[in-house]
Amino acid sequence: MDAATTANMLQTMQDQAGIPSHPLIFQILMVFTWIPHILFVNISLGAALVGLYAFTKRQDPNWQLLSEAMTKVAKVGVSLLVVLGVAPLLFTQTIYDPSWYASNVLSAAWVIGFIFTLTIGYLAWFTFYLKNHGAQAPGWIFWLGVFGLAMFLLDGFIMHVLAYQGLHPEKWLSWYTPGGHVDMSGTAIHAFELPRWGFFMAMSLTIFGAFLIAYGDYFKVRADRAPAYLDFARALGAKIAITGALLQVVLLLWWLIDVPAQVHVWTHPMTWLLAAYLFVLLAAFWLARSNNAGQGYRLLAMSIGMAALVSIFREVLRMAYLHPFNYDILNYKVLWDIPSFALFLFTIVVVGGLMGGFIITLVYKAGRVQGPYEADATVTKLGNGSLASTAIWVVVFIGTGIWIWLRNNG
Ligand code: HEM
Repeated sequence: MDAATTANMLQTMQDQAGIPSHPLIFQILMVFTWIPHILFVNISLGAALVGLYAFTKRQDPNWQLLSEAMTKVAKVGVSLLVVLGVAPLLFTQTIYDPSWYASNVLSAAWVIGFIFTLTIGYLAWFTFYLKNHGAQAPGWIFWLGVFGLAMFLLDGFIMHVLAYQGLHPEKWLSWYTPGGHVDMSGTAIHAFELPRWGFFMAMSLTIFGAFLIAYGDYFKVRADRAPAYLDFARALGAKIAITGALLQVVLLLWWLIDVPAQVHVWTHPMTWLLAAYLFVLLAAFWLARSNNAGQGYRLLAMSIGMAALVSIFREVLRMAYLHPFNYDILNYKVLWDIPSFALFLFTIVVVGGLMGGFIITLVYKAGRVQGPYEADATVTKLGNGSLASTAIWVVVFIGTGIWIWLRNNG
C-alpha cells in the first residue's frame, strides 16, 4: 500500500470520538509507566532463569538458598509485571489505537493464547515454588519451572510481535489478505525482529544482575543471612550484569542495522545516548565486579536509568516508523473532558502515590526485620493516608456518578 493511502487508513482507524486530554500527556504517561513494567519483566525473567540454574546445584547451601529466594522473586515479579503492564496498555491503545488494534486483530489467536499461556505458565511456576524447599526438593519439579519460564518467554515474544507489527501499517492489508484472500483466522505471526526481542531479554540479565547485587546489600542487616551468602549473591549478580550489558550492546547494534534506512535511527541523538549509557553502565559493573558491597542501590538506580532511556528510545523509534505515514499523535482529535481528567490525575498522583508509597515503604522496612515487624510512625501515616485517599476517591467517584445521573434525570 502506498504511503498516502496508508496515512489515510491510519487516520480513519483513529477513534472518531477523540481523546479526553492533550496527546502529549498520554505519550509521557505511556513512556513512564512502561518502565516499571519492563523492570519487573526483566527481574522476573532473570530470577526465574537463575532460580532454575541454582536448583540444579541445590546440594550446595548457597545455591539452594538462592534458588528458593529467586523462585519467590519470580513468583512475586510476574504478578507485578502483569499489573504494571495495564497502564502502558491503556495509553498505547489511546494514542496508537490503529497500530495496537490492527496488530491484535491480525494475530488474535496469539493474543488470546497469551492469556492461557501466561496462566498455565504461572501455575507451573507457582507449583515449582511450592515444592522448591530444601536440598531434598524432588528433581522433577525442575521441568515445571522450565515450562513456566518458557511460557513467560513466549508471552514476551507475543508482546513484542504486537508492538512490532504495529510499526508496519503499510503491510497490514497484505497480511490481512494474503494472496488476495481475506484471512480472518488471526493465527499468523506476520512479523518479528529477533534483535529487538533479544535486546529486551539481554536487558533481563543486566537488570536482574543489578537487582542481585542490591539484594546482597539489602539483607546485610539481617542476622539470618550469612555474609558469605550475600557476598556470593553479589559476585554472581556482577557477572550476570556484565554479561547482560555486553549482550545488550551487541544486540543494540544488530537491532539498529535491522531498522529500515528510511527510519533514520542512526542520526537520532537518542540512539547515541542509549549506546553511550550502555557503555557507562557496563564500565560501572566492570569496576564493581570484585568488590561491590554497598554499591547495589547505586548500580540498580543506574540500571533503572537505562530502562528509562530504552523506553524513550522505543517511543522515538515508533514515531520515526510512523512519520512517513503522517502519523503524529499531536494531530489526534481532542475533546477535553476536564472532570474525568482531574479525577484521573487525582487517582494516579494522590491515591496511586500514597498507596504505592505505603506498600513500597512497608515491604522495604518489613523485609529488613527478622520475625514480626511493627510499623513505625512513617509507615502508619502512609497507611492512614492511603486509606483516607481511597475513601475520598470512592465518595468522589460514586458521588459524581449520582450527581450526573440526577442532573440528567431530574
Ligand atoms: C510474562 C509476561 C510478559 C512479558 C515477558 C512481557 C514482555 C514485554 C516486552 C519484551 C515488551 C517490549 C516489546 C517490544 O517493544 O518489542 C513488552 C511491551 C509491552 N507489554 Fe509486556 N510482557 C508481559 C506481559 C504483559 C502484560 C500482562 C501486559 C498487560 C497487562 C503487558 C503490557 C505491555 C505493553 C502495553 C507493552 C508496550 C506495547 C507497545 O508499546 O505498543 N505485558 N512486554
